[in-house]
Amino acid sequence: MAIVATAAVLVTTLFGTSASAAPTPGAAGVGDAYYPNDGNGGYDVSHYNIRITYNPATDLLTGSTTILARSTQELSSFNLDLLLPIKSVRVNNFLARTSATAGEVTVTPPAPIGNNQNLTIVVQYEGKPTTVRDAKGANYWKKTPDGALAVDEPHIAQWWFPSNDHPTDKATYDVSIVVPQGVEALSNGTFAGTTQTLNGWVRWNWRTTSQQATYLAFLAIGQYEIRSSTAPNGQPVINAYGEDLGANGSAARASIERTPEVTEFLETQFGPYPFEAQGGVASTGLNFALETQTRPVYSTLFFPRGANTSVVAHELAHQWFGDSVSVKKWRDIWLNEGFARYSEWLWAESQAEGTAAEIAQFYYDRRPASDPFWQFIVGEPGAGNEFNGAVYDRGALAVHAFRNAVGDEAFFETLKRWQATKKYSNGTIEEFIALAERISGKPLFALFQTWLFTAGKPSPADLGNEAP
Ligand code: ARG
Ligand code: ZN
Repeated sequence: MAIVATAAVLVTTLFGTSASAAPTPGAAGVGDAYYPNDGNGGYDVSHYNIRITYNPATDLLTGSTTILARSTQELSSFNLDLLLPIKSVRVNNFLARTSATAGEVTVTPPAPIGNNQNLTIVVQYEGKPTTVRDAKGANYWKKTPDGALAVDEPHIAQWWFPSNDHPTDKATYDVSIVVPQGVEALSNGTFAGTTQTLNGWVRWNWRTTSQQATYLAFLAIGQYEIRSSTAPNGQPVINAYGEDLGANGSAARASIERTPEVTEFLETQFGPYPFEAQGGVASTGLNFALETQTRPVYSTLFFPRGANTSVVAHELAHQWFGDSVSVKKWRDIWLNEGFARYSEWLWAESQAEGTAAEIAQFYYDRRPASDPFWQFIVGEPGAGNEFNGAVYDRGALAVHAFRNAVGDEAFFETLKRWQATKKYSNGTIEEFIALAERISGKPLFALFQTWLFTAGKPSPADLGNEAP
């Protein structure tokens, strides 16, 4: 066996053998109905080594990203998702031909690639992220006066690194960012130190050892005060506060500094925290918050009236619901936002700010049946509508209705089992419902059909709160 295996390795060191059917181009997308060009077919990425230089003064980004992948079919060519101009691509050290349109880069190596081959793809690229638009004319790169933020959902990776840009292909990451002396550069995971470059610039090194979806990788470059500490569970905590957060800065700190405490609370609800580090970044450079893995980024707009640990609970809940267990298709976004909103209510209850049942009742009562809010189909929001408020609020009411229907024991058992069995992978709404039915022993199809897939305000009985 060992000798045969060795022989097989010897004949497959370059591009593998293509003995059977003719190699074909890898698909331009993974088949997500909302975004047909997201991700690519024919290979699986295991690691991204992203090495970039960024100049805040000019917005010029120079990148050299090495992708470790494995082919899943015989390939005559394959695609990468990147909007910045390509200088060169090498596949297993051989220079490849490339052509690019609207974020789809087609890479044609000098010889076809066999199935199940290790691929080392080195992409050299350079451009100004603010100047490149996707096929719909959009640009989600956020230039700030002192730097930039690569933070958005569902699309951001293609503005700073080449990837297989879909949550179904997760990988580990090393991110290394060279910036001028005096500028800070943050990303996910653990900090591997800074090194001085020959021209007096500084290289910041970050490492993500847990599987991570492409949209959850982030960059925050600019003037930041960085606070490092250790959580009670021994994990590194790295928080970063923009140096000019304005009037909301202290409230942002007073909220984000409680990250380890909120994480501990959520562990009691969902099971062990799935990642290797913790933290948060506060910035004036965006108008939302995002659950970037291990280190969410928060707009200071969330803190106009003092501390807001609700948004911290929301983004940290996403570390389980969204980051560890990610959507299989963007249509399944309720699995992220419905549960993150509901987690805000669980956290509020733990802080004696009302029970989850009371908060659910408030959200149910606050909008009359005539409100267009109740017409939105949470389980099929449509491309571009993933973050409609109904996905969050009606989505959280759906979670509460499910809890009322099965009782606390089956409810929390379902959440924990979902997390344990789907850790670092992907799930669908249908799979969640099937698990909930298995654990509770109750038919739940009608309940979820009402809350997620039917227009109109569900009845008080559908919510299932006890009469006051
Ligand atoms: N997942 C984020 C949250 O609810 C929302 C992201 C909204 N995206 C955007 N580009 N505004 O925490
Ligand atoms: Zn959210």
